[in-house]
Amino acid sequence: MNSAILGTGSYVPNRVLTNADLERMVDTSDTWIVERTGIRERRLVEPGQACSDLALEAAQRALLAANVKAGDIDLILMATCTGDTPLPSTACLLQHRLGATRAAACDISAACCGFVYALSIADAYIKNGMRYVLVIGAEVMSSITDWTDRNTCVLFGDGAGAVVLGQGSSETGVLSTHLHANGRLSDMIHVPGGGSKEPASKDVLDNKRCFVKMKGNETFKIAVKSMEEAAQEAVRANGVTLDDVDMFIPHQANMRILNAVRQRLGFSQEKLMINLDKFGNTSAASIPLALDEAVLSQRIQKGHLVLLAAFGAGLTWASALVRW
Ligand SMILES: CC(C)(COP(=O)(O)OP(=O)(O)OC[C@H]1O[C@@H](n2cnc3c(N)ncnc32)[C@H](O)[C@@H]1OP(=O)(O)O)[C@@H](O)C(=O)NCCC(=O)NCCS
Repeated sequence: MNSAILGTGSYVPNRVLTNADLERMVDTSDTWIVERTGIRERRLVEPGQACSDLALEAAQRALLAANVKAGDIDLILMATCTGDTPLPSTACLLQHRLGATRAAACDISAACCGFVYALSIADAYIKNGMRYVLVIGAEVMSSITDWTDRNTCVLFGDGAGAVVLGQGSSETGVLSTHLHANGRLSDMIHVPGGGSKEPASKDVLDNKRCFVKMKGNETFKIAVKSMEEAAQEAVRANGVTLDDVDMFIPHQANMRILNAVRQRLGFSQEKLMINLDKFGNTSAASIPLALDEAVLSQRIQKGHLVLLAAFGAGLTWASALVRW
């Protein structure tokens, strides 16, 4: 038996930051951002709003869609690199706020691949007999963004997406997941300070070492290659072809990355799910946020073959093939 996605949900904060707003903050332009990234606006949390606040809304919507009660959840897996606090896990905060008293809970750290990694772990537990797993990708990327660095601040946004996984059939549900990592390239995208290596200090803050640093150009090339490979691996493993895929939902990093991967895989524009123009790169939240939009807009229908592919810091890359 496969595990099945019983319901999806998502949430973004109300505050909109447009490219015009960014023009007033750093030396950039709407034209540059749209041409180089495809992003037009992104959502940011209000002061005091944290990762668990976004996750709670997304999780409640997913539970409602799945018709599953919080008290019936066995496990909560929260994919995030921007949790409320270093300790305890944000999944535990969410467990309490949802009233999911029976659930075990922990965070999964795999950056932009976090949701697919968490989905893969959840899938293994369901296949092993567990009844319901809540999988969330939630990020407050604005909390680790240097708002004076035009190379990175135009890219990221805040948001959350969630799915409830339960028992499916042998034909539908999560057909396979594929996870990869290459720690040799860990400095391509990283936050150097604020952890045990360089604990939070005035020096870390003054030197902006608690914010994301990225080698954008090199990351771009590896992202295209890795997501293409992960997508190919998923279809190969299931004896289907790329033509059989109805909807491709890649991690929403950059429109040019998405289009390059789409072209390499031979997908039409209609098969590619894009919402990064509205939300930017929301890291672990990006795939479940796009998945929920595709479900709500009925672009995903029963029987469809849905391909998820992600890429991110670590470096990590991953894919999943799901029969809806
Ligand atoms: C970041 C990214 C948009 C930059 O686009 P690019 O085409 O690679 O641009 P480059 O880095 O080569 O920079 C080109 C020029 O634009 C400038 N530039 C960078 N950011 C800018 C901005 N926001 N506005 C205006 N100019 C900018 C650079 O300073 C550089 O100027 P120079 O030629 O005078 O040195 C692109 O590399 C990217 O998206 N990479 C992948 C990042 C990503 O998705 N990471 C997360 C993966 S999960």
